[in-house]
Amino acid sequence: MNIPKHIGIIVDGNGRWATKRGKKRSDGHLAGAKNLNNLCQHIFNKGIYVLSLYIFSTENFKRSKEEVNYLMELFVKMFKKDFKLFENQDIKIVFSGRREPLRQDLLNIIDEITYKTKDNKQGIINFCLNYGSHFEIIDACKKIVNSKIEANEITEAIFKKNLYNDLPDLDLIIRTGGELRLSNFMLWQAAYAEFYFTNTLFPDFQKEEFDLILSSYFNRDRRFGGVKNEKKIN
Ligand code: IPE
Ligand code: IPE
Ligand code: MG
Repeated sequence: MNIPKHIGIIVDGNGRWATKRGKKRSDGHLAGAKNLNNLCQHIFNKGIYVLSLYIFSTENFKRSKEEVNYLMELFVKMFKKDFKLFENQDIKIVFSGRREPLRQDLLNIIDEITYKTKDNKQGIINFCLNYGSHFEIIDACKKIVNSKIEANEITEAIFKKNLYNDLPDLDLIIRTGGELRLSNFMLWQAAYAEFYFTNTLFPDFQKEEFDLILSSYFNRDRRFGGVKNEKKIN
């Protein structure tokens, strides 16, 4: 089996990690953010080309103002500091999600980092921030309608090009934190993805466990609707 080209991680369990330790939920988010950087380095060292990180959903705005504000501040700091690293490592950083109602300082750093890394070639980090798959599909439909293309000319390839970013389909989705759901993550891109759910809370998710998941992925039989070892007739 080939090395997965595109891995998605649903970063979950930060709040519970903190609560278990008698800390504030925000402490869990900070611990999660610290873990993210090392993990990204490790994943790219393994030869993965695209890494999509689900870090804030459109639905996460339902949380308290305090928690949402903390997260927005944390994202600004994280992009300003930690991810400067990737600029120099030939890793392109892209973002998926709606801009509204993100604050201006966050949008500014998002735009800066996108611009500064746009020609990088070794890999891609796709931050899904204020991301929801339903909105992504609706936004793609709006773009297609506005492009005046005829309905019968719409193909999968055209639809894909109108998503927030034109990325390969997901090969593997990992969700930490024990929940067995997608929570509106990349529904189009997940069509033939392999899934791996772990109870580990994200701040505790280490590279050793990532390696085990990768070994498990290599043992999966991805048939894409075909039959194993059968030669194609046409
Ligand atoms: C994931 O951790 C981070 C975000 C969704 C922003 P959670 O904050 O969802 O942590 P739990 O699920 O409450 O433990
Ligand atoms: C999913 O986590 C969203 C992100 C990881 C950004 P949630 O904690 O928001 O998901 P639910 O509410 O448990 O489905
Ligand atoms: Mg959660």
